[in-house]
Amino acid sequence: MSHAPVMPVEAPAVLEWPEAVKAEVAEAISHYPVKRSAVLPLLWIAQRQWGWLPPAAMQLVARTLELNEPEVFGVATFYTMFNLQPVGRHHLQVCMTLSCSLMGADRLFKHLEHKLGIGHGETTADGRYTLRRVECLAACGGGPCMQVGLDYYEDLDEAKVDSILEKLK
Ligand code: FES
Repeated sequence: MSHAPVMPVEAPAVLEWPEAVKAEVAEAISHYPVKRSAVLPLLWIAQRQWGWLPPAAMQLVARTLELNEPEVFGVATFYTMFNLQPVGRHHLQVCMTLSCSLMGADRLFKHLEHKLGIGHGETTADGRYTLRRVECLAACGGGPCMQVGLDYYEDLDEAKVDSILEKLK
């Protein structure tokens, strides 16, 4: 699991690609016949780098790909996998769509709310967890399921959630 650093809300007004990811950015662009097609991979690299997508990161992607800023903002706001606000170190996304819902997602979500003391879209005061209800995570056969960062957990119940939280500490 990746533990991206979380940039504070007061993100810098201008960002540049750090030296360590410049080659990766160039490689991502090289995979496409036209630069603009690399917008998703570059947004992904930016989010991994800064933990979320502050406006300056989307502007950096726009500058890099010679796109208008609204074109990049439009893509970033369309996909829920992109965080437009800072998230905690562990981003817990609980699927609430039909299959998971029938298997107890609501009960599980309430358990997490109670356990962490936060609700949907909120982050714990220590910045460790962000909790969110999301739509289908494409693991419908394993409901109820939850995504934590890039990891999936399926067939969950309260005890399994407690053990996941224990390991994340
Ligand atoms: Fe939950 Fe599809 S309904 S993963």
